Amino acid sequence: MALERKIGYAVVGLGVGRAHAKAALNSTNGRLVAVCDLIPEKLEKAKKEYGDILTYTDFTEMLKNPDIEIVSIAVPSGIHAELAVQALEAGKHVLVEKPIDITVEAAEKIEQARARTGLKAGVIHQNRFNACMKPMKEAIDSGRLGRLFLGTFAVKWYRTQEYYDKGGWRGTWAMDGGGSLMNQAIHTVDLMQWLMGDVESVTSCMGIFNHSIETEDMTASLIRFKSGAAATFVSTTCAYPGLSTDIQVYGTKGSIEVDGDQLKLWRIEGEDEDEGKAMIDLYGEGNGNATALDPTLVVGHATQVNDIIDAVLFDREPLIVPTDAIKSVRIANAIYESSRTGETVRFD
Ligand SMILES: NC(=O)c1ccc[n+]([C@@H]2O[C@H](COP(=O)([O-])OP(=O)(O)OC[C@H]3O[C@@H](n4cnc5c(N)ncnc54)[C@H](O)[C@@H]3O)[C@@H](O)[C@H]2O)c1
Repeated sequence: MALERKIGYAVVGLGVGRAHAKAALNSTNGRLVAVCDLIPEKLEKAKKEYGDILTYTDFTEMLKNPDIEIVSIAVPSGIHAELAVQALEAGKHVLVEKPIDITVEAAEKIEQARARTGLKAGVIHQNRFNACMKPMKEAIDSGRLGRLFLGTFAVKWYRTQEYYDKGGWRGTWAMDGGGSLMNQAIHTVDLMQWLMGDVESVTSCMGIFNHSIETEDMTASLIRFKSGAAATFVSTTCAYPGLSTDIQVYGTKGSIEVDGDQLKLWRIEGEDEDEGKAMIDLYGEGNGNATALDPTLVVGHATQVNDIIDAVLFDREPLIVPTDAIKSVRIANAIYESSRTGETVRFD
């Protein structure tokens, strides 16, 4: 619904932050007011690309602008909480990139600032809005899949050394908080806990195989859930040339397998095999086919940028809030702890 008042939007960090800026620019109920980055060339480029906007190299200065109501935080992961809390304290709502921050303690500071200020805080985990996730989540939550007993999750990606060298923060414990797991596979950690429920324990190992970085480029874990189900979870940025993201969930009444945003298998006991085939026809090509039929299944950052704008306009909670997003950071850090100590890490 388009309204007369448009919510003023700003973005800090112009890497993936450009996707936030573009989404705000194209949004129905928002308007892009300003962007901020430490690198002046990125600001020049943004001015050319986004037209009549303000640019800042100083985040504190940008926060003084009263036209800005929401700020997207898209800087390196290790300073998400610092900037998000600063923005909330300055009276701005925030949309924070994944991971919400690299430690549970830092992430909790965002939640505390949100509660203290009464403002909105959303967190990007855009893969939850991949078209096939909606029917998959519904099939699990409604019990159509029966009792879940097993999941297999594998993020088999590839990143070059140049990728890690760019920006200087990737692959460092202090700013990236980890490697293939905390940066790339955190999306799938989020999906795992969202689909399968609360984690009971993790037993893990990790290593560095093909990069000159501080952190891991491979993790492998056995996850036990409070429900009694189990899952394997692996992450890597060494799988040349960049392979699948397997998300496979098995229940006593059926099985669903996904690769990335593409549905690969949908079989539910007692339901016609043709129904499974119809689901593959609809969701097998990722978001394309499904969104052609259902425009509400728009993917990527635009969904969540529009969501936070509407959350502010209509005074409701964003789709993914800090208490949701903290869960994947807790699991990722438990995987690192188990890998370091060789012990199983149990959750309360
Ligand atoms: N949702 C996704 O799919 C997705 C994809 C990529 C990155 N990310 C996340 O987005 C964040 C940024 O990653 P990236 O790949 O865009 O990194 P990047 O290095 O490409 O961009 C980060 C930008 O932030 C700027 N910056 C750093 N500190 C700043 C400060 N104090 N004030 C203003 N600007 C500052 C840098 O100059 C840089 O231009 C990370 O947390 C990452 O995990 C999410």
